[in-house]
Amino acid sequence: MTSRPDAPNPGAPATSRANIARQQRFWTRNARSWDHGAGNNPGLVKVVERVVAEGAPAAGQYVVDLGCGSGQLALRIAPAAGTVLAVDVSRAMIDLLDEHARAAGLTNVEGRAVPIEHLELGEGSVDLVVSNYALHHLRDPDKAAAVRQAAGWLRPGGRLVVGDMMFGRGGDARDREIISSKLALMLRKGPAGWWRILKNGGRFLLRFQERPVSMQAWVQMFEDAGLVDVEAIPVVNEAAVVRGTKKT
Ligand SMILES: C[S@@+](CC[C@H](N)C(=O)[O-])C[C@H]1O[C@@H](n2cnc3c(N)ncnc32)[C@H](O)[C@@H]1O
Repeated sequence: MTSRPDAPNPGAPATSRANIARQQRFWTRNARSWDHGAGNNPGLVKVVERVVAEGAPAAGQYVVDLGCGSGQLALRIAPAAGTVLAVDVSRAMIDLLDEHARAAGLTNVEGRAVPIEHLELGEGSVDLVVSNYALHHLRDPDKAAAVRQAAGWLRPGGRLVVGDMMFGRGGDARDREIISSKLALMLRKGPAGWWRILKNGGRFLLRFQERPVSMQAWVQMFEDAGLVDVEAIPVVNEAAVVRGTKKT
């Protein structure tokens, strides 16, 4: 059973409900601009390709894409898979995904407007769970819960592959390099960039909209969920892919 994104989940803590509502508003407002820009972003395309390579979807497999947006990853995987269940908190994103799937003649993509936090699937019913640039929007306890849930849905030998911005708050050299290169890039853009530093810096520091955590934190979450062969792979700038396998 799944919930509608706007349906209150009485079991969820109030802070999770508030974040789900905020993400739903934000991404419904920004669905078209993300859809327009994402496919043309070479960095994002590299991360999608790495998620696909690490997931290695095969014919007949049941794949779940968490936070699918308008389908950058789900539509790329669908031709190689059996069925792709693509879930997103924003109905506007799912409508765009459906439009693109129809235009591409793909009939094996099922879009579902549901928050990741409310998605319920059978134990051992999924071959591959993937996600791209979505889980950093979840609160930290909800990220760990999503990894545990995904590990439960996987059949033995199944894989979880997460691509995302992965860096901490300046605790190690990689973090500091990522943060300073982001700042330098925006400073070069002049007043528009300065405004983005204020806006994105506020979001990052207050952890309202974007809550990235380090590759090490992701590896720990995968291992805590009982996944094995866990590996973190830096891909480009801030982005990395973490993959793990359900024990056979
Ligand atoms: C940056 S976009 C990435 C979309 C897509 N995965 C891609 O690679 O282009 C983040 C997506 O995560 C979705 N999202 C954020 N929080 C979510 C949640 N709690 N449950 C489901 N989707 C969520 C947003 O609606 C948005 O579509």
